[in-house]
Amino acid sequence: MANRHGLIAGATGTGKTITLKTLVESFSDMGVPVFLADMKGDISGLAKIGCETDKTKINVEKYGLASKGFRYQAYPVEFWDLFGLKGLPVRVTLSEMDPTLLSKILNLSEAQQGVLNIVFRVADDESLLIIDLKI
Ligand SMILES: Nc1ncnc2c1ncn2[C@@H]1O[C@H](COP(=O)(O)OP(=O)(O)OP(=O)(O)O)[C@@H](O)[C@H]1O
Ligand SMILES: [Mg+2]
Repeated sequence: MANRHGLIAGATGTGKTITLKTLVESFSDMGVPVFLADMKGDISGLAKIGCETDKTKINVEKYGLASKGFRYQAYPVEFWDLFGLKGLPVRVTLSEMDPTLLSKILNLSEAQQGVLNIVFRVADDESLLIIDLKI
């Protein structure tokens, strides 16, 4: 099923991120590399070894995971960083970017984000390329 398109949707706290992490860890265990666009940064914890908590202890016991080979482990991760600070710097053109991400990178205020959204919307509607942000 892994070569199909999929969508994981659900309300906050229903397990979307954990589901993704489980998929990624399973692929990694099989030697399959995974590219993840991690906007929120909450999957990056894969790089660090987990530790036992009350919650994980209960689940490991409940589902007999220890006998199935479960262990806390770190996964091999290489970071690409649009901010160019903590990983391989990534270069993209402005037009290829999404206004939400660009707003985050530029640390824009809500009002400025609104303006940027309009700029992208107009460019989309008029089939214009956004080359740079010169005023
Ligand atoms: N399969 C599971 N079995 C048991 N507990 C789970 C499972 N999946 C998630 N949880 C628990 O639910 C919590 C919330 O899960 P998760 O962070 O994946 O939700 P989310 O849908 O990504 O939420 P958000 O929309 O806020 O990002 C986790 O911290 C975990 O404790
Ligand atoms: Mg989540």
